[in-house]
Amino acid sequence: MKWTLILFLGSSLAVTTLGWTYHYSQKTMNWTQARRWCQTDYTDMVVIQNQTENNYLVSKLPNRTRSPYYWIGITKNHMNENWTWIGNNSTWVGEQSWAVNEPNNNHSNEFCVEIYVNTGPNRGKWNDEKCALQKYAVCYKAQCNATSCGRGRCQEMIENITCLCEPGFKGDRCQTAMECPPLSQPDNGYLSCSGGNLTFNSTCRFKCYPGFLIIGPPDVICTVTGVWSGPRPICTSYKQALLAVVGCGALSAFCCICFCWMKHRKRKKLAQVRQPEEATSPSNEAQG
Ligand SMILES: *[C@@H]1O[C@H](CO)[C@@H](O)[C@H](O)[C@H]1NC(C)=O
Ligand SMILES: *[C@@H]1O[C@H](CO)[C@@H](O)[C@H](O)[C@H]1NC(C)=O
Ligand SMILES: *[C@@H]1O[C@H](CO)[C@@H](O)[C@H](O)[C@H]1NC(C)=O
Ligand SMILES: *[C@@H]1O[C@H](CO)[C@@H](O)[C@H](O)[C@H]1NC(C)=O
Ligand SMILES: *[C@@H]1O[C@H](CO)[C@@H](O)[C@H](O)[C@H]1NC(C)=O
Ligand SMILES: *[C@@H]1O[C@H](CO)[C@@H](O)[C@H](O)[C@H]1NC(C)=O
Ligand SMILES: *[C@@H]1O[C@H](CO)[C@@H](O)[C@H](O)[C@H]1NC(C)=O
Ligand SMILES: *[C@@H]1O[C@H](CO)[C@@H](O)[C@H](O)[C@H]1NC(C)=O
Ligand SMILES: *[C@@H]1O[C@H](CO)[C@@H](O)[C@H](O)[C@H]1NC(C)=O
Ligand SMILES: *[C@@H]1O[C@H](CO)[C@@H](O)[C@H](O)[C@H]1NC(C)=O
Ligand SMILES: *[C@@H]1O[C@H](CO)[C@@H](O)[C@H](O)[C@H]1NC(C)=O
Repeated sequence: MKWTLILFLGSSLAVTTLGWTYHYSQKTMNWTQARRWCQTDYTDMVVIQNQTENNYLVSKLPNRTRSPYYWIGITKNHMNENWTWIGNNSTWVGEQSWAVNEPNNNHSNEFCVEIYVNTGPNRGKWNDEKCALQKYAVCYKAQCNATSCGRGRCQEMIENITCLCEPGFKGDRCQTAMECPPLSQPDNGYLSCSGGNLTFNSTCRFKCYPGFLIIGPPDVICTVTGVWSGPRPICTSYKQALLAVVGCGALSAFCCICFCWMKHRKRKKLAQVRQPEEATSPSNEAQG
């Protein structure tokens, strides 16, 4: 490889620094060659998502007094298209991204973009250019890989990565399954749980000793939020269950008696109230 590759953050820093790194070429090339160069040794040509990133990129590139121009990963194919970033087709362009009077599409074929990394007032500004011109390549290398976030999606940030965890997992690398609180053995029964740890998706089954009856669903599952899916069932003896049924029966009998008694009382009371009326009505009738 004839290009000299330079690692911005240095090998000692790279160990402790997460998030993408920027890399640039020591020779100039056209846009297509520059992108290929980036894809060969790094992830791709640089992509900028907001002004903070733009300024961060510029701060990491060496100032050049002569030819301070670097290709960036935003292009278009035709005059009437929007500028589109390589990668995810984002069309972000900041309020202050373009240099004064740019993009001018001077030759009606300026479909690539360079960034100025000088010390003057145009520092960090963009300009549309012909893709065939020779500029420095600036690339990024992503840090997120398949193993960065155990059970989550990896998101790159400036000097950091963030893991967005799948439901049921937690931790800065989504490495830990949500845990449910321990369950004690039920009275008059026993408990058996799948796997060693009571983590997300574990199932525990309650069983009752012979002669005991389970009240409630026997299985509970550890849910994504680390709480059990339902209340724990209880084991009750058939005798108790029977008593309960009988008790319930007795209770309902008692209630019935109560109800009937109250109804009877009410009717009696009503009858008492209505009696005088009834007494007068015949006379009214007689009058009418
Ligand atoms: C360019 O972007 C604007 C605003 O996002 C949108 O309304 C328009 O349809 C786009 N034009 C093309 C050619 O994609
Ligand atoms: C970007 O847009 C092109 C053309 O519209 C499409 O083919 C491609 O799949 C898009 N890429 C992404 C990552 O959305
Ligand atoms: C492109 O990806 C970045 C994050 O990598 C995101 O912030 C942005 O919204 C994405 N744009 C589109 C159009 O998907
Ligand atoms: C257009 O390009 C020509 C030749 O490269 C240059 O002399 C001229 O100044 C440019 N015009 C603008 C407005 O940039
Ligand atoms: C480049 O120039 C800017 C503005 O003058 C300065 O702040 C920055 O420290 C310089 N960067 C390097 C690497 O010399
Ligand atoms: C870039 O350079 C390569 C190799 O020299 C050439 O094949 C290609 O056509 C050039 N691309 C543009 C857009 O000029
Ligand atoms: C994947 O990325 C992590 C940092 O997110 C890093 O520690 C690990 O070495 C990388 N693994 C591979 C195979 O590149
Ligand atoms: C800009 O992007 C960086 C990295 O993706 C992010 O950390 C930061 O919050 C963004 N800033 C704004 C203002 O959107
Ligand atoms: C990285 O991001 C995480 C979550 O956004 C945050 O807690 C942590 O402090 C950051 N680390 C550094 C070194 O910025
Ligand atoms: C249970 O958790 C411990 C520590 O949290 C872990 O070391 C062990 O591998 C886990 N066992 C299973 C079967 O998940
Ligand atoms: C949880 O269990 C269901 C059913 O057994 C299974 O389909 C799913 O993949 C499990 N999820 C995880 C994250 O283990």
